[in-house]
This record gives sequence, structure tokens and C-alpha cells, in this order.
Amino acid sequence: MTGIPEVQVRKHKVKKALIQGGMGVGISLSGLASAVANEGGIGVIAAAAIAFNEPDFRSNYTEASIRALRKEIRKARKLTKGKIGINVMVALSNYADMVKTGIDEGIDFIIAGAGLPLDLPELAGDNSHTALIPIVSSGRVARLIMKSWWRHHDERLPDAFVVEGPMAGGHIGFKPSEEYPDPKDNPEYALDKLVVEVLGAIDSFCDEYGIDRNSINIPVFAAGGIWSGEDISRIMRAGASGVQMGTRFVTTKECDANERFPQTYIDTKEEDIVLTLSPVGMYGRVVRNEFVDKINDPEVKTSPDVCPVHCVKTCKQDKGPYCIFSVLISAQKGKFKHGFAFAGVNAWRATEIISVHELMMTLEREYEEAEAEAEGKAQAMG
Ligand SMILES: Cc1cc2nc3c(=O)[nH]c(=O)nc-3n(C[C@H](O)[C@H](O)[C@H](O)COP(=O)(O)O)c2cc1C
Repeated sequence: MTGIPEVQVRKHKVKKALIQGGMGVGISLSGLASAVANEGGIGVIAAAAIAFNEPDFRSNYTEASIRALRKEIRKARKLTKGKIGINVMVALSNYADMVKTGIDEGIDFIIAGAGLPLDLPELAGDNSHTALIPIVSSGRVARLIMKSWWRHHDERLPDAFVVEGPMAGGHIGFKPSEEYPDPKDNPEYALDKLVVEVLGAIDSFCDEYGIDRNSINIPVFAAGGIWSGEDISRIMRAGASGVQMGTRFVTTKECDANERFPQTYIDTKEEDIVLTLSPVGMYGRVVRNEFVDKINDPEVKTSPDVCPVHCVKTCKQDKGPYCIFSVLISAQKGKFKHGFAFAGVNAWRATEIISVHELMMTLEREYEEAEAEAEGKAQAMG
């Protein structure tokens, strides 16, 4: 066996069907992305508020962001010959600038979520190199994007989808309900179900538009709660062509955050990975701390920050209790008095910081064991 299989995305042959999820602010930059790319996966630089370390980020946010993204892409290119992508949230106020900068730098993949990337093909322009990958949370949204791109962008289709379920870290595309205060518990949103939904959406789109399904290649990567090689094997047997993993890569030596950030994962308990409503209007999954208790308590009044840059279009920071930009930068720097760490539901399972190489070896071994077991079972059943 050869471990996690390869996958073709547009013109890119990816040795390991594993995308390291883009993690802002400053959690996945050139260090983590290049380490993952060196192992054969897709390493992803998060564009969200990437200017945070530039001296002029407050006074010159547009320029500083473009400069910072360029720098990180170029640094990553020096560190690897592997596949590098950027993660751009559609909700970012500088979304178009970030996409265009990535294209300008010849980035291999643009992965866009937190909103509908309906204009992504137009922003990317006439470009055969860069693969465009929307992040979706349902088959309905996948279908909507395919229809819109096909109609308005010269019959272009996504080069792959990431389907992200509610177990993911960071902002999630699901809301709590009365029945399920945490959407991760809603069986409707089980990741294997979402994968099947998105595959079904691709099939029905092809049927409707008279496209031969075998003539197009749209691999589906599953994200949210994937922790082990066994998880990878299981979700691929449900139909995914690969996975996107974020949380598991935080507790690596190459993670670009201050070491106190991954330490919050190692120190936390399962019940302390909680949801909080972020001022951008989405729920975020975080490691609970005193600051999170303060913002989650309607009785406690925290004083609103001064917004330095309005980094997210939908942010109601002037009405909300804090600025997501300053809170995430504090966390990146390992300061949690006024900060929190985004984290997936499995973050508490981390016990130590290891290298990306060690992590990939573990995932490969676990994947092979799970595949061998599944094969054995299938044979036993005749
Ligand atoms: C610390 C952290 C920051 C994240 N930041 C972003 C981001 O900037 N943009 C984005 O699309 N997703 C972001 N995510 C989601 C990841 O890219 C990934 O899809 C998700 O973490 C997958 O679930 P997992 O963490 O259970 O593996 C973040 C996740 C974490 C843990």
C-alpha cells in the first residue's frame, strides 16, 4: 500500500490528497504551508488579516496586506517545490486584492469560503494554472456555485470543493438551534452525509446541463473533525477524494503561531471547546478561557475596541463587544487576556507538539492500517 492516495486537481497532481486548512490570523503562513507541501500535501497560507506584522498595517492596510501576502508566498516557494495555496475568506474586505495577488504570484490553489465566491473566476482571470476551490457547507451551496459559474463565467466549474462540517475550528457555516445548541450534534450535518450531498449536487448539475459526469473532475475534500488516518480512510470510503485538516496541524513545530497557541489545545478539556458568536455574524469554535466566558456572558459588558481596519465586510464591531482582528492577533502572539484560539472539536486530543513530518507519517500509517482492516472485513464478507 502507498498510504494516503494522490489526487488530480485541475493540472496539479497532488501526491497526498490532504489540504492543510488555511488558518488565520497568522496560524498558517509560509512555515506551516511549506512543511505540509514538502510532505506531498497542499500547504495553505491564510490571507485573513495577513498584514498584522507589517509596521504600517493600520495606516496603509491595503498595501500592507498585498505586500505581506506576496512575502509569504515567496518565502514558501523558497522552502518547498511542493503545492502551495492561499485561503481567502470571501467576507474579507480585501478579498479581491488577496485573490489577485495570489494569481499574480502564480499560486497553485485558491481556496475560498466564508461567503459565496461567485465572482472568483472573474477575479482569477484567464488563468489555467491556479485551481479554484470553494468551501461549502451543503450540497445546495455547491450547486448554486456551479450554476452561477457555468452561466456567468464561460462554463467554468470549480476545480474541487472543500465541504466543511460543523466540527471544524474557526468560523463555521452552521448555527445553533434549540434542538442542537451545538450543530456538531445534528445528525443532518454529519460529515459523511455532507460529502454524499455535495457529490449528489455535482451529479444532478451534470444531469441538468447534459454534461457527461465522467468528462469532468471535481474532487471533494472533506473537512471538520478529521483527526486520524482512520478518519481519512473512513471519509474517503464515504466518497471524498481527500481531506482538509486544520486543528491537527496547529500542534506542530512548524505552526506559525506563538507556541502558547498550540499549548492551549494541549491544556484544554473536551467540554471546553465551545462556540461563540463572532462580531462578523458567524459562530466560531474556540478554546474556552476567561475572555471567552466574558464575551459569552450577556450580563458582562466588555468595552468595544477601536476598529483598526475593518478587515471583514460583515463585521459589526462597532456594535459588538470586541474586534475579531485584535483578538486573533493577540492569540497568534500567545496573549490570551484579550484573545482566544480558534479550534476544532478534537483539539483537546492533542498531547504534544510534533513535526509535520512525524504527523504525516502517523497519518499514513493509521490510514494504511484502516484500509487493510476494511479490506479484510470486505473479504471476510465475501
Ligand atoms: C486556528 C484556526 C484558524 C482558522 N482560520 C481559517 C481561515 O482563516 N479561513 C478559513 O476558511 N478557515 C479557517 N479555519 C478552518 C480550517 O481551514 C479547516 O477547514 C478546519 O479547521 C477543518 O476542521 P478541523 O480543524 O477539525 O481539521 C481555521 C481553523 C482553525 C483551527
